Amino acid sequence: MDYYNRKMLLKSTGRYIAPWLVKNDDLAQWMDTSDEWIRQRTGIEQRYWVPEDGDIGASDLGLEASKIALERAGWSPEDIDLIIFGTLSPDMHFPGSGCLLQHKLGLDTTPALDIRQQCSAFLYGLTTADAFIRSGHANRILFVGAEVHSPALVKADRGRDVTVIFGDGAGAACLEGVETDEPVGVISSVLHSQGEFARSLMMPLPASRITEEDVREGRHDAYMDGRNIFKTAVRKLPEVANEALEKAGLSIDDIDIIIPHQANLRINQAVQKSMNIPDGKMYNNIHRYGNMTAASIPVALDEAIEEKLVDKGSTVLFLGLGAGLTWGGVIYRHF
Ligand code: UT7
Repeated sequence: MDYYNRKMLLKSTGRYIAPWLVKNDDLAQWMDTSDEWIRQRTGIEQRYWVPEDGDIGASDLGLEASKIALERAGWSPEDIDLIIFGTLSPDMHFPGSGCLLQHKLGLDTTPALDIRQQCSAFLYGLTTADAFIRSGHANRILFVGAEVHSPALVKADRGRDVTVIFGDGAGAACLEGVETDEPVGVISSVLHSQGEFARSLMMPLPASRITEEDVREGRHDAYMDGRNIFKTAVRKLPEVANEALEKAGLSIDDIDIIIPHQANLRINQAVQKSMNIPDGKMYNNIHRYGNMTAASIPVALDEAIEEKLVDKGSTVLFLGLGAGLTWGGVIYRHF
């Protein structure tokens, strides 16, 4: 069979956000922070967390987002050939949340693949799905990015630089192979990783290499060298955007909307400024949700579709950088 003309269509999306609204002032009750500091440094006004009883995992939020995406696609779970699940906060250390979601969808033996590319999960997931579809290995793929960060966040002064940033939520996308000669679907993709900087954003535990000291020192808390990640993102995101544009033979003027990862409003503003991107072309929703890691881009995409900012014919640039380090840019033309 000739798969040359097979393109990946973003058939539908869905989102589900955790139910507990946590405003910046709420956080100030538990740690030395303030609404003013959080807004000024990050653009975040609020985030949503799961209730504290520990009963909701990433696969549960992912399930709700998936149900919406599936309904909009007109698919039943049995139509799915492959699930790709992106999360850094899985329900269990193993097995992956993709398998848990597969069962919760009522499926029998549909394959499920977990990817651990954190804030770049959508970029890696979309590219992986595109490769599966173009090669004929799968025709209908469910991508889910879901995070339940809040139970592992330190709600005390020592965790304040990390805790105030993160929110819980899920975004899902139904991705389908379609035969067409048109230049649509994934036009270009550029992915990078650099393990040299793994320690600048990490959660060392649970891990296969574990010492008594690790346990004593509580290395199950996330560590982030925020300032360095910030500087790296501001440098690398325009770089990778230009790589993706060059690979596609496009200029930034050909892009209708940029949907970047939502790590910090100031990062996205700096990227916008350095690439001369007009207002209105850069989608930001961090003020509502904080940083939802693997869920941020698919949730933003779902909102952008709802707001008709992404429509048939739109050319979208997805961008993101996070733990790994991993980063990338994907250009997708909707059809
Ligand atoms: O999503 C994946 C990738 N992650 C990122 O992209 C995150 C990138 N980094 C950032 O977003 C920012 O670096 C942060 C928001 C994490 C921090 O903002 P910053 O402007 O880089 O602040 P900073 O770390 O340089 O800290 C400035 C001050 C420090 O106090 P001193 O040393 O100046 O007295 C911190 O202790 O702000 C203090 N601080 C806080 N103050 C109030 C740190 N966290 C807080 C807080 N509330 N939550």
